[in-house]
Amino acid sequence: MPRMKKTMIEEVPKKKTSRGKKEIITVTGMRDILPQDQKYWQAVYNSTKKIANDYGYGLIDTPILEYAELYVKSTGKQTDLVEKEMYSFTDQGGDFLAARPEGTPGVVRAYIQHGMVNLPQPVKMFYHGPMFRHEKPQTGRYRQLHQAGFEAIGEDGPTLDAQLILMGYNIMNDLGVDVVVQVNSIGCVNCREEYKKALVKYYKQHSKVLCENCLLRMNKNPMRLLDCKELGCQPIKEEAPQILDYLDDDCKKHFMKVLEYLDELNLPYNLNPRIVRGLDYYNRTVFEYWSADDIEGKSALGGGGRFDGLVELMGGRENTPACGFSLGVDRVVAKLREKETIVPDDYQPDIFFAQLGESAKKQAIVLYESLRKKFKMSQAFYKDSLKAQLESANRFKVKYCLILGQKEVNEDTIMLRDMNGGVQEIIGLGKLEAELIKRLEKYTSEDGVEIIDTDETRAALVSKKRPHTQERDTEENNLDDIGDLSSGFTAIEDEVEAGTPDDY
Ligand code: HAM
Repeated sequence: MPRMKKTMIEEVPKKKTSRGKKEIITVTGMRDILPQDQKYWQAVYNSTKKIANDYGYGLIDTPILEYAELYVKSTGKQTDLVEKEMYSFTDQGGDFLAARPEGTPGVVRAYIQHGMVNLPQPVKMFYHGPMFRHEKPQTGRYRQLHQAGFEAIGEDGPTLDAQLILMGYNIMNDLGVDVVVQVNSIGCVNCREEYKKALVKYYKQHSKVLCENCLLRMNKNPMRLLDCKELGCQPIKEEAPQILDYLDDDCKKHFMKVLEYLDELNLPYNLNPRIVRGLDYYNRTVFEYWSADDIEGKSALGGGGRFDGLVELMGGRENTPACGFSLGVDRVVAKLREKETIVPDDYQPDIFFAQLGESAKKQAIVLYESLRKKFKMSQAFYKDSLKAQLESANRFKVKYCLILGQKEVNEDTIMLRDMNGGVQEIIGLGKLEAELIKRLEKYTSEDGVEIIDTDETRAALVSKKRPHTQERDTEENNLDDIGDLSSGFTAIEDEVEAGTPDDY
């Protein structure tokens, strides 16, 4: 590890705690995704994975660090992403590296590096993970952001464009996020040359009222003029010439086909001539996913398009077309939360295993090892108090609770409590697994939850239980107080009913 200067350590921004101490906190624009929030992220990844499977995309992981030149060459030297936002540094060996600001260049590099050109085309890959952009942090704009992306390399047909647009739409739809797809075509290099000239000519007439950024873009990257979000520039943007009028015959034909397929699919889209995308590699079809309530597209949930020249530009085979998109997972998650979408917990245990007393604890930790392989289990063996353990069981909303005390250890039995009916019975350890399988199967009927706690079974269980309870009176680590706990259960159950937040 390189030796750090003392000042470097002291300069780290710290937060003063209530105890007067200073804590190191996260880097500006970066954040923790806490356990209780993971379910939203997993929901997005699960939905992404489902779509990847449905349309034949294979998962690829590329390194977070790449040579900075990869992005300079592909994303574009003069893009904001590379010019202003890239996290780059020279490492101890003198290599100039960058933390990936986006996923597409890495996937294209991998395609070339691993000779994927020899595989059946198109090669279809998807990825997810963190990207890094030194942007001004604000709502929906992070410096460590997360993307889920899809890239298909080696196919130029418009069916691919339409299918990719559909895939992103399907992910949003599956998640219950209402989006309107914004579609445009920015043609090929030839179409754009003519268009840029017309655009600059038009903007020059209005240079007196343009923002500073637009004045710069006019010379450096005229297509980006259409990306400007400054209020004063909007009326000018509205009247600007449209790229669609400058498409050559091939590009026009390609785009019309894409739209035909979208129409065929009944996919709601908006033909939006202002969508130009901010990265250099795009050509022909470009698109973005805007939330239905974000009519100005201030916070796109995703975007993509064709990048037919990128493979060749990066040293791969000539004329290797490609198309792809990525979703901003942070923003999709924010939408799920904003809409109060109910997202199931990623892991919902069925059975909680509680224990009371040292010898029960020893047996429980061993028994748990075989049970967890067959059932969805949970436990809190580090806790001694039975009440505390049962409270955990309630929070996990398990169907059954196993309780092992001293007497049960002596008799090779275990107590099984139905958390829905509150009924409990003693079961021989030898029959435990079969009993659990039977009960869990019976628990869920076609129309939801079927409680096995009928009057008949209850009567049988109660009569079975009584002698045990009497015998236990003299024991130290027995489950006598389970009756008291039962009333505790009711109180806890009420709390759960009232909406105690999940913490699993
Ligand atoms: P992009 O438009 O730069 O495209 O990013 C895609 C999505 O990432 C955006 O629509 C947005 O939802 C999210 N995003 C971007 N920056 C931030 C940020 N600072 N904080 C939070 N979310 C953000 C690309 O990255 C291309 N590689 C997409 C692509 C794939 N094109 C072809 N294939």
